[in-house]
Amino acid sequence: LILQMFISPLLILCDDTTLAKSLGQSSFPSNFLFGTASSAYQFEGAYLSDGKGLNNWDVFSHKPGNIIDGSNGDLAVDHYYRYMEDIELMGSLGVNSYRFSISWARILPAGRFGEVNLAGIDHYNKLIDVLLLKGIQPFVTLNHFDIPQELEDRFGGWLSPESQEEFLHFADICFKSFGDRVKYWATFNEPNLQVTSGYRSAAVDIFRSKYQKKQGGMIGIVLYAAWFEPISNSTADKSAAERAQSFLTNWILDPIILGRYPSEMNDILGSNLPEFSNKDKDKLKSGLDFIGINHYTSYYVQDCISSKCEPGPGISKTEGFYLQSSQRNGVPIGEYTDLDWLNVYPQGLEKTITYIKERYNNTPMFITENGYGEVYNPNSTIKDFLHDVRRVNYIAGYLNALSVAIRKGADVRGYFAWSLLDNFEWIFGYTVRFGLHHVDHATLKRTPKLSASWYKQFITKHKVVT
Ligand code: NOJ
Repeated sequence: LILQMFISPLLILCDDTTLAKSLGQSSFPSNFLFGTASSAYQFEGAYLSDGKGLNNWDVFSHKPGNIIDGSNGDLAVDHYYRYMEDIELMGSLGVNSYRFSISWARILPAGRFGEVNLAGIDHYNKLIDVLLLKGIQPFVTLNHFDIPQELEDRFGGWLSPESQEEFLHFADICFKSFGDRVKYWATFNEPNLQVTSGYRSAAVDIFRSKYQKKQGGMIGIVLYAAWFEPISNSTADKSAAERAQSFLTNWILDPIILGRYPSEMNDILGSNLPEFSNKDKDKLKSGLDFIGINHYTSYYVQDCISSKCEPGPGISKTEGFYLQSSQRNGVPIGEYTDLDWLNVYPQGLEKTITYIKERYNNTPMFITENGYGEVYNPNSTIKDFLHDVRRVNYIAGYLNALSVAIRKGADVRGYFAWSLLDNFEWIFGYTVRFGLHHVDHATLKRTPKLSASWYKQFITKHKVVT
């Protein structure tokens, strides 16, 4: 094991030397953020500690049958209590930023009519202060899927417009409490997966009018942004790929940045598409300072309007496209992985960045998540877990694609690997692992994988500080 651990990083680092030469030191702009990403529910645990209220995921994960391995995030990776140790790990990686989210139910256990939980505020104050002491910029997501259960019970959560006032109140408290030190804010994580459009602009308005002038900083949103490649060169498949982009990604960004829904949606939904009131239009003008891109994978897209295919799961007949990760003349779009939704196709990142750059006038971008997941195999040894060559190859390929996009002029300002640690992967519980560090969930011991040493070397070579 010792020999292998010693030799493998050397081999990989040799590869990286070649990669580094081809990238050139200047591929990443000065003060580019190299980080790792996390989220409160997946990391913190401490689900009843220090006055935190229950959130929707606490309740959901406790219902039998909802999580594949019957687990939950009660303990997760105990980051709430082990954040000092985890910041040490970040320090040894050499990252200069950390993306995490704030647990809403820790700050406002009973929503806006209840008390602010000062112990929650205190926790994030300590986390932020220690990060800054170590030279690590906090990059904070306000909402990463978890909302206080009290809001679900009181009015049904996101389904009710009341959630807008609640979110506004929560965001205001966060800006007020942490905005003197936090300079990167993301409102929502992947709302296009969670369908929460409409809440973003309220929080942005209050940040712009009350806090940004005093505190500085940027505010943006984080999107699920896969690449959709037409399965053939036919016009029909090309239009199907555009429809996929529009119905899955652009429908959030177009209204915010361009003030209208994508034309593909207008064509299909016509008057069923909600109209913006003048008040909405005014709010939309507050725009975004950056676009956060969570990119992991790419799909082939096939037209199902003029051809006979059935639209894919979750896609309506009228939208008329099928997503698949395989089969262009029998060749997959990228290498398969353990996960059916994750294919390795680094050019997909370059194409996504270029597409967003062109559509939204090169609005600053951050790659807020990118990473490689493996299905946990209980028969594997610790040596297998730590020797994660496939993850190294994945990250190396995607960082290379990112550097190409930057060299071609894309304004990308940071990259966050998902994730610092193995953690709680939503309905897959602890069965899917994305960490640069292995976590033994019985002891919570963290051990760096090969990918951690690789990322560390990469950052050392490419971080330019001015
Ligand atoms: C994106 C989500 O933001 C994150 O919570 C999740 O763990 C990763 N994808 C990996 O699936």
